[in-house]
Amino acid sequence: MKILAIETSCDETAIAILECAGDEKHTEFTVLGNALISQIDIHKEYGGVFPALAKREHAKNLVPILEAALEEAELLHEDTQAMSEDMRAKISEILAREPGLSEAFLDFISECEPPAIDAIAVTAGPGLEPALWVGINFARALALAWDKPLIAVNHMEGHIMAALAKETRSNLVISEVKMPVLALLISGGHTELVLMKKWLEYELVGQTLDDAVGEAFDKVARMLGMPYPGGPEISRLAEAVREVKPPPAAEGGLTSLTQFRLPRPMINDATCNFSFSGLKTAVLTLLKKGPYLNEQEKQHMAHEFENAVTEVLWKKTSRALEQTQAQTLVIGGGVSSNTHIRRTFTHSVDTMCPHVSLRIPSASLSTDNAIMIALAGFYHAQQKDFVIDITANGNLPLA
Ligand code: KG4
Ligand code: ZN
Repeated sequence: MKILAIETSCDETAIAILECAGDEKHTEFTVLGNALISQIDIHKEYGGVFPALAKREHAKNLVPILEAALEEAELLHEDTQAMSEDMRAKISEILAREPGLSEAFLDFISECEPPAIDAIAVTAGPGLEPALWVGINFARALALAWDKPLIAVNHMEGHIMAALAKETRSNLVISEVKMPVLALLISGGHTELVLMKKWLEYELVGQTLDDAVGEAFDKVARMLGMPYPGGPEISRLAEAVREVKPPPAAEGGLTSLTQFRLPRPMINDATCNFSFSGLKTAVLTLLKKGPYLNEQEKQHMAHEFENAVTEVLWKKTSRALEQTQAQTLVIGGGVSSNTHIRRTFTHSVDTMCPHVSLRIPSASLSTDNAIMIALAGFYHAQQKDFVIDITANGNLPLA
């Protein structure tokens, strides 16, 4: 089956079209079309994602990237389509809150044949509600115009499926997944450990009690005078220190080599919960104590911060692995593209729990994209989990 997926939960507008074949045991996905516009440069000026601006940009970008994705998939066939006044009115009503989108949408739809796709999947949450609504209304309008079923996808389950997918030369394959799967989901808005015992059935094992880990990266980067998004900037600074003196492999690269010492919040607490706001405050306190940091000191601060985060993430994840007896571990979400976290988890699983199969998404699949929404959409379609209507939920839980 062919799934067209739409993602607009944050600052990426993305549409992907995937051919999906198989069942829950073994599925092959071929990416037929994939178009993405990142708004990062626009939001940089504001030091974070500005919801009203994200909504406006999604509304501007959706029709052009739909066209690009369909064209790449060779599913774009121009042909004048007769559209009833009634249909036109319904679509205008669905898109009434997205300025400019309605006209562009109607122009586009009336000039191309409905493509040979089987379902439309869209992110329903979590994320920024104004941004989510644009994608959802766009999906609702497309489903109506083309008479296709709709699938609502949780953004975080998209991150889990992206991590489970193995990339071959031309395909993505999700195969032989040993349940239960433990997922460490780390992004700008989330830090949670979730257990998947069966496809699409989730249990919350642990979560942050305050800031998300990506948020902590972004805030600390800002304190060090680095632009948004801060994760890649902190990683670049920290890696510069690691290149000079690699951490001892025997200790999984977890030892600090720097002049600064930061806390490892809740590391010895018996739960699988996290807390990152104290860590951020500790950086601020150290920065307030002295004069401005020079470049090398910034590198050392970033290095110590990244070590503190990684140590806590691994400690809590290993506790959760033990508690849940999970057979597969996935790391998903934007922060999972962090080099040190990937290296540490690979080394630690190898040495401490070799029976666990670790799956980490490739860098391009770790940050937000629509391919992951299509992957999750396929499992919903397998379970005939189609919906009549969708409401955006900024805090949509997985479990
Ligand atoms: O999943 P994502 O793309 O969007 C959300 O759903 O939040 O995650 C974005 C977050 C940002 O906080 C960004 O700073 C962080 O992921 N991030 C990183 C890295 N790349 C992105 N954090 C640490 N190291 C990285 N290399
Ligand atoms: Zn995300």
